[in-house]
Amino acid sequence: MEHKARDFNYLLGSLEGISDKQLKAHFELYKGYVARLNLMEAELKTTDKSHTNYSWGHWSELKRREAVAFNGAYLHQLYFENLQSKGAPCSELIAAIDEAFGSYNDFLVDMKSTALCTIGWVVVTKSRVDNILHTYLLTEHHTGFPVLQDVVLILDSYEHAFAIDYGINRGAYIDAFINNINWDVVNARYMAL
Ligand SMILES: [Fe+2]
Repeated sequence: MEHKARDFNYLLGSLEGISDKQLKAHFELYKGYVARLNLMEAELKTTDKSHTNYSWGHWSELKRREAVAFNGAYLHQLYFENLQSKGAPCSELIAAIDEAFGSYNDFLVDMKSTALCTIGWVVVTKSRVDNILHTYLLTEHHTGFPVLQDVVLILDSYEHAFAIDYGINRGAYIDAFINNINWDVVNARYMAL
């Protein structure tokens, strides 16, 4: 299938603490991952795989990096989807947050602390193993995401997500992100599980 970048221009002018200049640069990066994913999937279909091996090979390299482009595209889609301050955590989600983290404030502290110790993503998931919420960190798009997880909330903590607005002040960006969470989207994801 052809992957298509979603249009998130509706976010422009609607976020507090995340500028349009920052967002537009981020959209371009996202579109690049989608384009790269399409190129990689097309090339994988036509590349000779009769001499694949662990050390090197064109098809081998494409396979090793395939999930980089895929997650680069869809983690960004999930991140932009859960931006634009709306609503509040629903009672079911609050109950799940309390069970997993102790309190809503403890959850925010956990998410921010996780983001401060990665160069990449924070994913908030509901685990199909223990049925509770977890925060996990990814240092690259394709590494660090445990299996049997359903996505509830995504935080992009790469420097490209905030350097235009905040320089190296990751913590200030994380605070701005938290203020811009679209809880309507997050609630819908959680309730669909
Ligand atoms: Fe990003």
